[in-house]
Amino acid sequence: MSKPLNDGPVAAKAVEPAETPHWKRDFPIRWEEDHYVTRRELAKFLTLGSGTIAAATVGVALLGDRLRPSGPMPPLRIDGAEGLARGASLLFRYPSEEDPCILVRLENDRLAAYSQVCTHLSCAVVHRPGSRELDCPCHEGHFDCIDGRPNSGPPTRRLPRILLNETLNGTYAVGVEV
Ligand code: FES
Repeated sequence: MSKPLNDGPVAAKAVEPAETPHWKRDFPIRWEEDHYVTRRELAKFLTLGSGTIAAATVGVALLGDRLRPSGPMPPLRIDGAEGLARGASLLFRYPSEEDPCILVRLENDRLAAYSQVCTHLSCAVVHRPGSRELDCPCHEGHFDCIDGRPNSGPPTRRLPRILLNETLNGTYAVGVEV
């Protein structure tokens, strides 16, 4: 008696290797459990990582707040301010040696001073003689000399203004208005 060639659909069977190695029998790998643990560990890592970054951000903010000078700032005489011609500028540092600033004599003969640190990515702004703008060469940012507001380019915040006190004894920087 002959057997039919096709008995219909047959369920697929996993083909076991003829001989399972000893190490596989001694240390079986449960892939599904292994993937589950990996996902859980990833979630734990992300949670811990986010928490750490949030805590570090708060720490840096608090530290920056504590390091910022509080109360009235000591006045600093700006040498050369009185003789500054209209449309000209000079550089000084205030309130500390780490804080570069720029003083401009405007066309109306008034003085205006600003932090030289660009509010975009902290490059130093410069002034060209006769210009009504402070220019940031890094990304073509331009600030108005009259009020320090951005006229064009990527900066969106105005430059911190240095408060001035003009006296008979000279021109003094007396504070910073952020
Ligand atoms: S750093 Fe000044 S425009 Fe970018």
